[in-house]
Amino acid sequence: MAQRKANTLLIEGGHRLQGTVAVSGSKNATLGAMAAALLVPEDCVLQNVPVIGDVDQMAEVLRSLGATVEWTGRNVLRINAAELHSSTPAIEFAGTLRGSFLVMGALLGRLGEASCPQPGGDVIGQRPIDVHLSGFAALGAEISRDGERFIAHASKPLEGATIFADYPSVLGTQNLMLAAATARGRTRIVNAAAEPEVQGTAQMLIRMGARISGAGTHTIEVEGVERLRGCEFEIIPDRLEAGTYAVASALTQGEVEVRGACPQHLESLTHKLREAGVQIEIQGDVLWARGVPELRPLTIQALPYPGLATDLQALVAVLLTQAHGVSYVHERVFDNRLLYAGELRKMGADVVTTGTTTAIISGPTSLHGARVQALDVRAGAALILAGLAAVSGRSEVTDVYHVDRGYERLDEKLRSLGAKIERV
Ligand code: EPU
Repeated sequence: MAQRKANTLLIEGGHRLQGTVAVSGSKNATLGAMAAALLVPEDCVLQNVPVIGDVDQMAEVLRSLGATVEWTGRNVLRINAAELHSSTPAIEFAGTLRGSFLVMGALLGRLGEASCPQPGGDVIGQRPIDVHLSGFAALGAEISRDGERFIAHASKPLEGATIFADYPSVLGTQNLMLAAATARGRTRIVNAAAEPEVQGTAQMLIRMGARISGAGTHTIEVEGVERLRGCEFEIIPDRLEAGTYAVASALTQGEVEVRGACPQHLESLTHKLREAGVQIEIQGDVLWARGVPELRPLTIQALPYPGLATDLQALVAVLLTQAHGVSYVHERVFDNRLLYAGELRKMGADVVTTGTTTAIISGPTSLHGARVQALDVRAGAALILAGLAAVSGRSEVTDVYHVDRGYERLDEKLRSLGAKIERV
């Protein structure tokens, strides 16, 4: 279980990162696998699970439904959903965790009904759930709303269908695979999300006996099976964590070897880092990133996979404060994910936002230490990296619990690379 830790990081910047760091399992893939475990009465044993706040919170969501969830080893989580006593997760755990909405598809598949609160999560823009709900309806569920809760109820077994997703929603696609895995007949999800985390959930379902093809492309087919079974499953490496260390290395003119990564999940990032001049080498599951004294400016666009991940957008923006020239950052996934720009300005960055989706960054600027707030998990990580690059003063990053929700021991791992960073 993730320990409750002090909530502020003090960072003395200006130190080169150097050495080797190992990547943990993917946060978002874990949430999908945990939801999938609800589909069967047998044990599901997940390996390479990151010990982070969001996993603990998802465990509480599952427990509130009657599942047993326990750590049986370092990074090993056993889930047993033999005795589900509810189709309604506790609002105090589900209401603030976006990924908890995945239990909706799993419960609908297993019990024929589910009722979940409007999912909360980070403040990064509008986060509708029409793709999830209209997909459930296409499979034959009736959708209704009771105050804060959405209810999906199937009065007869779910029937496979062709579902056109208006947007390739990551959680939406996973939710529909979870519901369709045991529906009668074939489901086609058109305009599906192709993110590696979607592929991860599909792989877990396949291990459980599901018949799914096309995960990783924009058309996924699910041939419903009568029943699934428990399984052991290893969570994929966290591409966003791996990307964080690569950017941190580039930003501090460091030389970092990121081990246990899946570099093909990071092609859009490594492509842009190389364009900026960063030296990148890839061999098997090792990604090596070396910073250079003079970075070139970039235009980046955060897009659905395989485009540059929106979750890496703030991190790359911090790097661009050190590029020689004007860079443009376009956020095309969420409509309000540049809120960190105000915090970066407190550290001396020259960042101008036009509207809520474009930032113009002029560099290089000498960042200085400041007291800044982690607004969400990714923006928080970006500010920590900015702190590492600050050449004067000390930075104080508050509300670090956001970062602890998504990163396993980020501060410890950065310290092992030579960062001067402590919790206070
Ligand atoms: N959208 C719709 N309709 C829907 C659902 C989404 O229009 O029904 C739109 C949203 O408005 C948004 C875009 O689709 O503009 C992307 O939303 P998506 O549904 O793909 O995001 P999500 O599934 O809610 C997951 C990750 C996010 C990550 C996004 C995009 C989890 C738990 N969350 O969210 O991760 O940023 O996909 O890749 O898997 C994070 O880890 O910090 C995080 C926020």
